Amino acid sequence: MAKPKVLATRPLFPAAQEILNAVCEAQYWTKPERISKEELFKKIKDKEGLVCLLTEKVNLELLNAAPKLRIAANVAVGFDNIDVAACTKRGVVATNTPGVLDETTADFAWTLMMAVGRRLVEGDTLARSGTWKGWDLDQLVGTDVWGKTLGIVGFGRIGRAMARRALGFQMRVIYADAVRAPEAVEEELKAEYRGMASLLAESDFVSVHVPLLPETRGLFDAPRFSKMKPTAYLINTSRGAVVDEAALVHALESGKIAGAALDVFENEPFIHPGLKRPNVVLAPHIASASIETRTKMACMAAENVVAMFKGQRPPNMLNPEVLKAG
Ligand code: GLV
Repeated sequence: MAKPKVLATRPLFPAAQEILNAVCEAQYWTKPERISKEELFKKIKDKEGLVCLLTEKVNLELLNAAPKLRIAANVAVGFDNIDVAACTKRGVVATNTPGVLDETTADFAWTLMMAVGRRLVEGDTLARSGTWKGWDLDQLVGTDVWGKTLGIVGFGRIGRAMARRALGFQMRVIYADAVRAPEAVEEELKAEYRGMASLLAESDFVSVHVPLLPETRGLFDAPRFSKMKPTAYLINTSRGAVVDEAALVHALESGKIAGAALDVFENEPFIHPGLKRPNVVLAPHIASASIETRTKMACMAAENVVAMFKGQRPPNMLNPEVLKAG
């Protein structure tokens, strides 16, 4: 029997290719530039499976160009690039990669928090500049991270991994979420539940870990920035559009907050020029980018596709209703 045809919009990693190639006839987009919409639509025509990145939109337009498609496997936990309702309507299973990137992403949110609080990037620039004159008492003084109040917005797997790290830094952890965590979790992580307004007023660092949903789009707007301490920092490793970037720039320019450290942006790869300031640390959406984690993510996406074509239930379905239970 012919193997099902699958398109992967990147070469993935050898371990993921091995999983995919064992069951599917996989075609990989290997050019250094991204696949264009035209190429994607052309190549997807005869494919039953797609392994895609968060930079590709799986929407009605793509589904219309993919009459044979049965599964779209996102190599990411966030799936705001996928119109899940449209997939469901077309009987296409959509999957993501939850769980495997939590610790790595929390590590990176911590990296950003430490970098902005302790002015690491400014220090690196000075150290390389050839103009450094040696130790000085008030040189590049930042702010302590240890012992401060960390406000976590979105207390899911990644938010909790962020909190767990704070225990070692003697931080006070407060969190806001649509749903309060079980008491046992609050106790284990020594985390206190707050409404959004109190969290913003109390936090020295606010770290964002919510998915991008209609209710979280623009969550950080001008009124919310005005509730933060002028000494506080915003850390964002979730999705750029959770923050109103123009409002953030205004908050930074007017000193409403002390700084920000961002891995994600409203219109990637565009970065608002007003964010290119010394008190903002910028990263190009790499929070999950460790070789271990990216390999796991690619393998997980490949396993979802393979499960589908072996007649099993893909483990990470976003629309399980597409396949009858059983
Ligand atoms: C990366 O941003 C992801 O959602 O996995």
